Amino acid sequence: MGLEGRIAVITGAARGIGRHIAEHLARAGADVASIDLAPSDDTVAAVTAAGRRGVGIVADVTSPEALAAAAERVRTELGDASILVNNAGLHPRQTLIDDVDYELWQRTMRVNIDSMFLVSKAFLPQLRSGGSGRIINMSSSVANVAPLGGVHYITSKAAVVGLTRGLARELGPDGVTVNAIAPSIVQTPGLAGTGISPEIVDAVLAQQIVQDFTTPDDLVGLVTYLCTHEARLFTGQHFHLDGGIVLGD
Ligand SMILES: NC(=O)c1ccc[n+]([C@@H]2O[C@H](COP(=O)([O-])OP(=O)(O)OC[C@H]3O[C@@H](n4cnc5c(N)ncnc54)[C@H](O)[C@@H]3O)[C@@H](O)[C@H]2O)c1
Repeated sequence: MGLEGRIAVITGAARGIGRHIAEHLARAGADVASIDLAPSDDTVAAVTAAGRRGVGIVADVTSPEALAAAAERVRTELGDASILVNNAGLHPRQTLIDDVDYELWQRTMRVNIDSMFLVSKAFLPQLRSGGSGRIINMSSSVANVAPLGGVHYITSKAAVVGLTRGLARELGPDGVTVNAIAPSIVQTPGLAGTGISPEIVDAVLAQQIVQDFTTPDDLVGLVTYLCTHEARLFTGQHFHLDGGIVLGD
């Protein structure tokens, strides 16, 4: 999985899934920048411990100005990024449609889908420059399972699939692949804050053929592979890491 010489940008890598991906890409040889609202000190320490260069950037992925500055910082401190993992996302509390107000709807869309558009735009010149760029977007099995009380979150994650396919179509000629990964439930700090009920967790697990929780470690191998030269023909795909909830397409 040689990613030596590659520079990866991961959003929301201060904790949770993003942090695991950062550590793993560093172990595979990449230098890593984390862009997160929270400081990424632990992530940078883990990247450094793996022998790679790490940069933690405190920035809001919904701010075009902050992202322009972040892209410039990555370029000057590490070099042109060739890997972008759009991972930052909001797990909104489980809320039924009658209580989903427009503010909650807009906030969910801003953080979960507008951000992926904005971060991709900010890093496109870098991703295109080497001719082998990779964009990996974090979707979710909720886009298929549609759990109760999640209309805003479900919609935002289904939109990630559209963004992935549209970008894949346009960027393929530049050698940039774009894929999405849809994990089932992963125990992270973000999930813990959703107030998700044990009944919902059980209902999701019940739909899995292999009934086990996904861990961040289950994700990292696929992310790393998608970044390799060997994976250059995988693009526009939505990979379901969900114990078989989705079979086939
Ligand atoms: N945990 C799950 O069950 C699960 C399942 C499927 C998909 N996902 C997706 O995986 C991704 C990561 O999830 P997680 O569970 O690790 O989440 P998490 O809440 O544990 O971590 C998310 C990180 O994103 C950062 N972040 C949030 N908003 C931001 C913003 N506006 N600007 C910059 N950084 C911001 C947070 O500070 C945090 O460090 C999300 O996109 C989530 O939707 C999670």
